Amino acid sequence: MKTIDNITVDETRINELAARATPALAVAGPEKEKLIKRIKELLKEKNAVLVAHYYTDEDLQILADETGGCVSDSLEMARFGHSHPAGTIVVAGVRFMGETAKILNPEKRVLMPSLAAECSLDLSCEAAVFSAFCDAHPDRTVVVYANTSAEVKARADWVVTSSIGVKVVRHLHEKGEKILWAPDRYLGGYIQKVTGADMLLWPGYCVVHDAFKAEELEALRRRHPEAGVLVHPESPMEVIQQADVVGSTTQLIKAVTELPNDLFIVATDHGIFHKMKEAAPGKKFIEAPVGGIGASCLSCAHCPWMAMNGLVELAYTLETGENEVHVDPAVGRQAMVSVKRMLDFAEQLKIKATGEANIISPA
Ligand code: 13P
Ligand code: SF4
Repeated sequence: MKTIDNITVDETRINELAARATPALAVAGPEKEKLIKRIKELLKEKNAVLVAHYYTDEDLQILADETGGCVSDSLEMARFGHSHPAGTIVVAGVRFMGETAKILNPEKRVLMPSLAAECSLDLSCEAAVFSAFCDAHPDRTVVVYANTSAEVKARADWVVTSSIGVKVVRHLHEKGEKILWAPDRYLGGYIQKVTGADMLLWPGYCVVHDAFKAEELEALRRRHPEAGVLVHPESPMEVIQQADVVGSTTQLIKAVTELPNDLFIVATDHGIFHKMKEAAPGKKFIEAPVGGIGASCLSCAHCPWMAMNGLVELAYTLETGENEVHVDPAVGRQAMVSVKRMLDFAEQLKIKATGEANIISPA
């Protein structure tokens, strides 16, 4: 249990939910080929486009690319779905990603392979408690990470993703605003350090990134001094401090092509290796350690909720129209204001899908 300003996050409950997430059904051989063919037909028949996150199964990423959809980070997923003409957006990812698509496209149908695909950050931040917390700090601008429910987004002034969080907070800090940040304590701490902003941090966490271990990473770096270290900012600060590059998933993929290293130690979900290998075919990638003293390895560098997305589930939702994402229209309209504020800001800054990474020196 973590407490901040009387706010508690029930880590035991969240870890139990993560352990109970049911992985997607496995399918292989000719049956898999048949399923892929059927999904391609269904996407056309239903005027649907597939938008997948980098952490989803490689088969889904390949399908999204082959069918004119997109594989990307949360910011680009939101932008792509918003600008694409298809009447149905199928979001392979976790629920907040489906909800964001629905918030931005209330007139479109948004489907997901599983509606039970949670996110521990979203689970860390219950809307009613969050709203009361905001009420208690009326002098602060409320900035929330995209990994939150539609209700939490509706209560915020700004929504940000990891690829744009630093830039938005720096902009607000320069205007003299004080920030109330939720829900990721590590990303919030990182942004605070980089920008120097006055930030009140909600104590949420990601089960995947929280598990990366600083001491074991140091030992691995000693064994591979030639390796570049890439870290997603949802990781603990002692892990972030060892990074050559800290950035969103897209920024980390970009780094493997820009840095001269042939070997990388990667502190994020290993689903990202598919695109890293595609971007830099000759290079090698190893997972940052989640083991060591005190390790529980609940997720082992793979999000248990992202793992609920599979070919069988995707075909099912397209075939039946089940697993449609619904957002209360009034909540959606309110949430759209803070999400659009981020997209407009990104547009102004002309940040493309391959936005700049925040490159810092190893500690
Ligand atoms: P990105 O926006 O960097 O893809 O991060 C989303 C996420 O859930 C990381 O755990
Ligand atoms: Fe949420 Fe972590 Fe999974 Fe990303 S990896 S969706 S932050 S639980």
